[in-house]
Amino acid sequence: MTLDEERLNQHVQTAITDFGATAHAPLVVIGDELGLYETLADAGPLTSAELAEKTDTAERYVREWLPSQAAGGYVTYDSETDRYTLTPEQAAVLADETSPAFMVGNFQVALSAARIESQLAEAFRTGEGVGWHEHDADLFHAIEYSWRPQYAANLVDDWIPALEGVDTTLEGGGRVADVGCGHGASTILMAEAYPESTFVGIDPHEPSVAAARERAAEAGVADRVSFEVATAKSYDGAKYDFVTTFDALHDMGDPVGAAAHVRETLTNDGTWMIVELFANDCVADNLNPMGRAAYSISTLICTPCALDQEAERVLGAQAGETGIQEAVTDGGFTRFRRAAETPLNLVFDAKP
Ligand SMILES: C[S@@+](CC[C@H](N)C(=O)[O-])C[C@H]1O[C@@H](n2cnc3c(N)ncnc32)[C@H](O)[C@@H]1O
Repeated sequence: MTLDEERLNQHVQTAITDFGATAHAPLVVIGDELGLYETLADAGPLTSAELAEKTDTAERYVREWLPSQAAGGYVTYDSETDRYTLTPEQAAVLADETSPAFMVGNFQVALSAARIESQLAEAFRTGEGVGWHEHDADLFHAIEYSWRPQYAANLVDDWIPALEGVDTTLEGGGRVADVGCGHGASTILMAEAYPESTFVGIDPHEPSVAAARERAAEAGVADRVSFEVATAKSYDGAKYDFVTTFDALHDMGDPVGAAAHVRETLTNDGTWMIVELFANDCVADNLNPMGRAAYSISTLICTPCALDQEAERVLGAQAGETGIQEAVTDGGFTRFRRAAETPLNLVFDAKP
């Protein structure tokens, strides 16, 4: 078989770019952990010696790290002064964890998921699942670190107001369950915004629930936020005005059973807000950078998680609006619509 030289070179170039990105990923996490990006953003332009001094790190490492970052377009280099800096846009992505553009958490997610690579390869052979709890503990923090900026930017200001009547209910004092709450980032943001309401965060993963309790105490909202270790099909309580599920429905082994239980625990005019990763309905329409990231994370984390449970309907993280709607209406909800979206998320409004 003859190879087309030009096409071959394109594939090699793609692989070199991705090899560079893979090797670069731990250096992004290290840059965040050591405050290298933040210092460049605050005090740049800096030489490697100045950055090392300000961050109390070893200059020889920093001298190698900086061009690796500049080659990838993550920092900006001035060859005349031999100094490096971050543009405001680079700083928003790498140095400001309150920005919705902050992306460092996503690198942490990919790296921590990869730590159980051999277990995942074995799961490909057997078809068995890999439970949420089987991942490296860094993953649970990474998920919080990656999603919190999105929720902080959108949840209270855009997503809840896009739901019919929910903002008014919560202002007056509503009962809320946040199902699949993880470390409780969304639960706490809502509790801070709606002091008259009460919130229960629910998650089957005990260490995440313990972390969520700590976060709520630190945020000073523990008086109106509690957490329960339970699945979406088994949590206690009834007559919730508002149930939320953030980036978790597709991780569940029985999303239809989960929907049925949510419906049972809602008031008749209650609302279920489902936040999912952005996806189009057709595979072909997801073959882009976002789809690549989401299918990869789904293969490493979400799909194995659902397969470890009932595996009744394994949605994957790119189920799209139709896939989510079918699961929700099969669970008994009669009304479903897309209420909002961002480049990363779809937000759905479901009613009994
Ligand atoms: C990707 S994390 C999202 C966590 C959190 N909602 C957030 O956005 O930061 C998915 C969460 O779903 C939880 N989960 C998995 N299966 C579940 C189930 N059957 N019922 C409820 N939660 C579940 C996991 O324990 C995990 O905390």
